[in-house]
Amino acid sequence: MAQKYIHGFEKKEQDRLIYQADFLEPYVYQGVDLEFTKNLLEVGCGVGAQTQILCRRFPKLQIDGIDLSEAQLKTASKVLAKEIKSGRVSLQQQDAQKLGLSKTDYDAAFICWFLEHVPDPLLVLKNVRKNLKPGAKVYVSEVFNHSLFMEPYSPAYLKYWFEFNDFQWEIKGHPFVGAQLGNLLKASGFKNINVEIRPFHFDSREPEKRAAFIDYFFDILLSAEETLIKTKRVTPQLIKQMKKEVEIAKKAKNSVFFYSYVRATATA
Ligand SMILES: C[S@@+](CC[C@H](N)C(=O)[O-])C[C@H]1O[C@@H](n2cnc3c(N)ncnc32)[C@H](O)[C@@H]1O
Repeated sequence: MAQKYIHGFEKKEQDRLIYQADFLEPYVYQGVDLEFTKNLLEVGCGVGAQTQILCRRFPKLQIDGIDLSEAQLKTASKVLAKEIKSGRVSLQQQDAQKLGLSKTDYDAAFICWFLEHVPDPLLVLKNVRKNLKPGAKVYVSEVFNHSLFMEPYSPAYLKYWFEFNDFQWEIKGHPFVGAQLGNLLKASGFKNINVEIRPFHFDSREPEKRAAFIDYFFDILLSAEETLIKTKRVTPQLIKQMKKEVEIAKKAKNSVFFYSYVRATATA
């Protein structure tokens, strides 16, 4: 895969994707209604973490999943062995920026934590629209990394996060793409566009959820640890300090975790 990818494809990262999909399922699938949908295109299916959930929640769905990475698809074919065998899921190695699918009449498309990783998200959405039936719905859930905040103020954590996002920007990713979804969907010809800002905001009222979110999010930060050290963007000292801040935030009675992602829907 010539295109650079911040998280990597090691087993630990692939396991993180499965954990993430389960952990965020109650949020990501809020408002996803595919009960009467037959053929779904999933773009950037990764290791099949969302595909598996989609199959479980919507038993009539037939899913074609595409991903650029051979390593992800190899794991996806194991994760989804049962669904592939029964003919419900088929996987293809494709670059979403050059999408070449035999079907151009999908009933819906699902895109999750994906557009941040491609150099040209507009091109991807234009390609997706061309493969949908008129009126078919697209569901897009994407990051807006500028929104992360943790109280008590955690400067090493935020400095590391800046380097994480700046590195992603340097390798032509889009860590703030959530805020652009309305523009991108409009420019790619979609109609009936709806954009929702969806905050995760946890404080002393829900200490267990707050701690779980701090942990979950910390794993995302650490997924780029090796890369950020190798590229000299962060030092082991900064990481040590960041780990201390995270421990403090997890224990502090009045700590706050805040992050917002963006969910957009539109029709072709
Ligand atoms: C963060 S993962 C998300 C996977 C899945 N949607 C999920 O929620 O678990 C992003 C995926 O995008 C894939 N990817 C990156 N660039 C791509 C491209 N140009 N075309 C297709 N897939 C790509 C990566 O291989 C990776 O599997």
